[in-house]
Amino acid sequence: MSEAPGMKTHDVRLVGRRISRVDGKSKSSGYTRFVNDIGFPGMVHAAMVKAGHPHASIVDIDISRVSTVSGVVGVVTARDVPGENRVGLVKDDQPLFASDRVRYEADCIALVVAETPYLARRAAELVKVTFENLPHISSLDDAKAPNAVMVHDDGNLAVERRIVKGAIEIGESQSDHVVEAEFHTPVQEHAYLETVGAIAVPFGRKMEIWVAAQCPFYVRDAVARCLGARLADVRVIQLPIGGGFGGKEDVPSEICARLAVLARQIGRPVKMVLTREEDILYTSKRHPMKLTYRMGCKVSGELQFADILIEADVGAYATLSPIVLFRSTIHAAGPYEIPNVRILTRGYYTNTVPKGAMRGFGTPQVVFACESVIDELALKAAIDPLEFRAINALKKGSRTATDQVLKDSVGLPETIRRAKKHFAGPWSRRSKGKVTGRGVASMFYGVSLGAAGRHLDRGAARVEILKDGSINVWVGCTDMGQGARTVLAQIVAEDLGVSVEQVQVNHVDTDIIADSGPTVASRTTVVSGNAILDACSKLKRILFSIAGEMSGSKITGISKGAFVAESGKALDFKKVVAECYLKRIDLSALGWYVVPDCRLDDSGLGDAYYVYSYATDVAEVEVDTETGEIQIKDFLAVHDSGRIINPMLAEGQVEGGIAQGIGFALHEMFSERDGHVASRDLSTYLIPTSLDVCDRMSVEFVERLSRDGPFGAKGLGEPAIIPVAAAIANAVSRALGRRVTCLPITREWVIEQSITS
Ligand code: MTE
Repeated sequence: MSEAPGMKTHDVRLVGRRISRVDGKSKSSGYTRFVNDIGFPGMVHAAMVKAGHPHASIVDIDISRVSTVSGVVGVVTARDVPGENRVGLVKDDQPLFASDRVRYEADCIALVVAETPYLARRAAELVKVTFENLPHISSLDDAKAPNAVMVHDDGNLAVERRIVKGAIEIGESQSDHVVEAEFHTPVQEHAYLETVGAIAVPFGRKMEIWVAAQCPFYVRDAVARCLGARLADVRVIQLPIGGGFGGKEDVPSEICARLAVLARQIGRPVKMVLTREEDILYTSKRHPMKLTYRMGCKVSGELQFADILIEADVGAYATLSPIVLFRSTIHAAGPYEIPNVRILTRGYYTNTVPKGAMRGFGTPQVVFACESVIDELALKAAIDPLEFRAINALKKGSRTATDQVLKDSVGLPETIRRAKKHFAGPWSRRSKGKVTGRGVASMFYGVSLGAAGRHLDRGAARVEILKDGSINVWVGCTDMGQGARTVLAQIVAEDLGVSVEQVQVNHVDTDIIADSGPTVASRTTVVSGNAILDACSKLKRILFSIAGEMSGSKITGISKGAFVAESGKALDFKKVVAECYLKRIDLSALGWYVVPDCRLDDSGLGDAYYVYSYATDVAEVEVDTETGEIQIKDFLAVHDSGRIINPMLAEGQVEGGIAQGIGFALHEMFSERDGHVASRDLSTYLIPTSLDVCDRMSVEFVERLSRDGPFGAKGLGEPAIIPVAAAIANAVSRALGRRVTCLPITREWVIEQSITS
């Protein structure tokens, strides 16, 4: 294996160190300024006029009463959009402002602006929209029914993806054990701390957008499109993000485009921050899915086929569903070698809140189904569940479901070995009215955008060494809480041989840095990290040459703030920088990175992603069969995410992912009734608290270096959550001797199983 970028200059010094977050103090002391804390002179506030109906035709929009509220500044509707009234990111199915039809209860019809948020909300209630109600559909089954109500005129099928490898019939004929089962997974809400918000500030021809968005370049595209402006007329300044988890991928673009239309019309800065209720009603969620699986193996445990149907509710608009469901399809057959695979994925429109990106991006659902079937096959074949996975696990040289040959960095077998070491003894046992069970789940995760997003898969960095030796860095990916700014500062400091304190990684500014695609798919460390290394290599060429001139001998390396010459002489980094300034040498450099190309053919075969991260989780649960309570006694997560740049932040990511996965498995219930969301706040939509997490949680890393990653890194942010619910469901199934087929696992379900067993 060739060495990963950034590994040749010297032995690593800061990479792999537990460095505190660069933004830790300012966040924990309340100093960080979020959208809600920021204002501009003359700023006014906007509020949305929402449909209130799941499906209806708009007959009339009467705004005449709005001006009766003093302090109201204006109203905009579809008629006021100077550019295109469209915001669909992949499919062009979504209007910026609904003008003739609404398709879910929070569809936005108008924006009202007033001197205070309170007045804006009051005035928004005075916009009188006359509707003609249409029948609506709120479930997958409704959407698929013959003669179903059509959410869009071209039918309810929004997305279709497939993979066909080998022949299922051959796999079936070679299988000694076959398991067939249907699974259901729920909607999941992101529940980030900070709700979606933004400020649009008009400056002459330029429209400045200040926003907490994961993807500032998506925001720029949407604002320019809706204003009918040039991309150069829009500047997006990213503010600190109070959590995104995928929920701030495309949604901020819609909010910002509406604010920009308003700001352009009234010529004043306009701000809007959604209330928690608005955020829950309006913003996208994790897709609920129905998963139908049939898989078979030999007596020896070797898997022979996987025949899978994934059906997802995409909600009222497709938003990111085509890409999310691409990922579901690629990962549906699990991290296993299976010669015959058939996967069909379909996403259907319903009159419900759009489903889109959420941490794991369509994989926690399929991993739950796949790992449940794998566990059932292991039971049928009477093979230990970890051993069963080891028999089938992808290894270096294996072929995936898309027939991709894995050439690099495949740590799955080692994650399984580590899990075996941690857990010994029976997989279930009974004691004093309680039953205990252990469950395993393995996963793989394609890093970055893969074949479905290859045209966007690049990233930029700008590194500038200032005359005092401090270093300003801009990248095109954002830090939404995962700690990217710290990890990237470590990469800069490592490569330039300076301290992390010398490095300032700035928030994204689209006027300063080139379009780097979205901050999703756990790609920041790889894409921004590699772009940084590219920029640093240009700077090092200059610095080495000047340091060489200064020392009179060749420079062999740079470490701990000094250049080391062949003569043994050390030159202070800051002195070399000062010399460059005296010589009027530019110490700023641009870096660029293009992710290795991936493509699939019409059967869905080929290289889906350039590299994969892997994990094996094991959960031990105690189930009280009388109360239905499930307590997680012990949880182990073993991850191969390549080189771990900062173990402390990496552990934090995995621990956070486990907590979020526990919510998905046991607690979070997004209830909708008759086209309306019933759980409209965080007292009715319950996420786990510290008391609901685990008695014991351990995190381990297997560092299988990737030749394309900075210092060998891959991605970790999303893998952290992906196998969690599956491991818990398998543990509960082992404990009760009944297969969990539906998430979340409720107390009622547990009690029912105990009564009927
Ligand atoms: N961690 C925190 N604290 N907050 C977040 O919003 N988002 C997750 C994950 N971890 C998130 C998080 C998601 S959805 C992604 S894609 C990755 O972080 C992005 O991180 P990376 O690109 O740096 O791997």
